[in-house]
Amino acid sequence: MRALVTGGAGFIGSHVVRELLHKGHEVVVIDDLSTGFMENLASVQEEIRFIQGSIDDPDLWRTSPSDCQVIYHLAASVGNQRSILDPVNDASVNLVGTLHLLNAARTHRTEKVVMASSAGIFGEPVRLPVDEGHPKNPDSPYGVTKLAAEQMALVYSRLFGLSTVALRYFNVYGTLQRYDAYGNVIPIFAQQMIRRQPLTIYGDGHQTRDFVNVVDVARATVAAGMSKHASGVYNIGSGMATTLNQLVATMQEVTGIPVNVRYDVPRRGDVRHSLASIAWASRDFDYTPSLGLPEGLEEYFDWFMGWVS
Ligand SMILES: NC(=O)c1ccc[n+]([C@@H]2O[C@H](COP(=O)([O-])OP(=O)(O)OC[C@H]3O[C@@H](n4cnc5c(N)ncnc54)[C@H](O)[C@@H]3O)[C@@H](O)[C@H]2O)c1
Repeated sequence: MRALVTGGAGFIGSHVVRELLHKGHEVVVIDDLSTGFMENLASVQEEIRFIQGSIDDPDLWRTSPSDCQVIYHLAASVGNQRSILDPVNDASVNLVGTLHLLNAARTHRTEKVVMASSAGIFGEPVRLPVDEGHPKNPDSPYGVTKLAAEQMALVYSRLFGLSTVALRYFNVYGTLQRYDAYGNVIPIFAQQMIRRQPLTIYGDGHQTRDFVNVVDVARATVAAGMSKHASGVYNIGSGMATTLNQLVATMQEVTGIPVNVRYDVPRRGDVRHSLASIAWASRDFDYTPSLGLPEGLEEYFDWFMGWVS
């Protein structure tokens, strides 16, 4: 089977590419390298076809391959804070880009589109764990565009019979996740730890997150693409809540680096609690997270130390 992966040079996308190759699929990647890196694909560069372009450019879709049976759509402008700074770019990439992709999938009679959605669509939970039917109340333009994109995919399913799956990833972490100004908490803390700087927690540290390893997320994504039963929306998390204070303690244990924590005021767009119910993914495509946070963090630090040195 031939698969198209948008955002395949990114953190999660490059793991999805490797999982697809591992399962024997041919892979085409589309990426504009705005936040992704060819280096993420270095070990598989000879095995894939790479197209550099932006998903919100209609010309890209006129010339994109028409013979991919499944599209894994991970390209996006990612993160709450980035979207607050540039909501127009967020809408252009995450919503308009997704629309171009859905139109191309419809034209080329693609069998299935699996898209990366986000726990950001829910906003502050009114009940825990967050199941798929939980009210949607996004706290940032990012959450709004991700929700609109998944709704658009569902509408394309109803109107045109295109099979679509939206996977609402929770807090994904793991190898190849780099530190940047908008990065997730684990790379930021890792960077501060190895520089022996104090870690900054926005809030009191009792807020919770559902940290899920990228290896499990990549497996779930490919399994959703292959499964006859997967259709509609699914949460992809670990099903475990971790407070930021517990995260810091685990990072300290795993590395042996003593840390100092500074507490600052909570940031706009950050929710207080987050925890996924993963029963639907488990029922429809046998999703079971395999890596606990301590093992995942050990693996992450092994990679991170090599990357920064
Ligand atoms: N990392 C997380 O915790 C998390 C959580 C929820 C959802 N997600 C979703 O997972 C997907 C992958 O996220 P990630 O963490 O790997 O981020 P990432 O920034 O590493 O990956 C995004 C990739 O998309 C590419 N890209 C961005 N804009 C593009 C455009 N206009 N055209 C073509 N390519 C473009 C980037 O170059 C990059 O390679 C995204 O859809 C994101 O919204 C991630």
